[in-house]
Amino acid sequence: MINLKVDGRKYKVDVDPNKPILWVLREHLNLTHTKFGCGVAQCGACTVLLDNESIRSCSTPISMADNKSITTVSNKEDNIVKNLQKAWVEEDVAQCGYCQPGQIMNAASLLKSNPNPTEEEIVAAMDGNICRCGTYNKIKTAIKKASKVI
Ligand code: FES
Ligand code: FES
Repeated sequence: MINLKVDGRKYKVDVDPNKPILWVLREHLNLTHTKFGCGVAQCGACTVLLDNESIRSCSTPISMADNKSITTVSNKEDNIVKNLQKAWVEEDVAQCGYCQPGQIMNAASLLKSNPNPTEEEIVAAMDGNICRCGTYNKIKTAIKKASKVI
């Protein structure tokens, strides 16, 4: 049995400890805002926070999350996630939207460790999150905007 806290809510799940966190969220907990892209830790669509560190949930076994906190883009209490969501809407970042939950969570990890990043730090931190629609400039602007209200 694995003990999880996801977006402030506690769960116990009886699953193969090697099952990726992404599929426990989506299939066992019905939390489907975290997306499946490449499945091999290369695109960032599945990014969530595990105790405030961004991880690729498609490639991280659920055993790593035992007795830890997972934060997803659906989190309603995390101020940094909320500020980013607001900035994302104001800047009209999303196109198809598929990559955006992972983009927001990777940005949340950045702002938790560095509340006022430079443009270069934003670009470096977001480098591994791919957007097929090319929304990179708007993502950068939204992160700068969110960082100003922290
Ligand atoms: S789906 Fe996990 S990094 Fe692409
Ligand atoms: S908004 Fe379409 S992949 Fe990023």
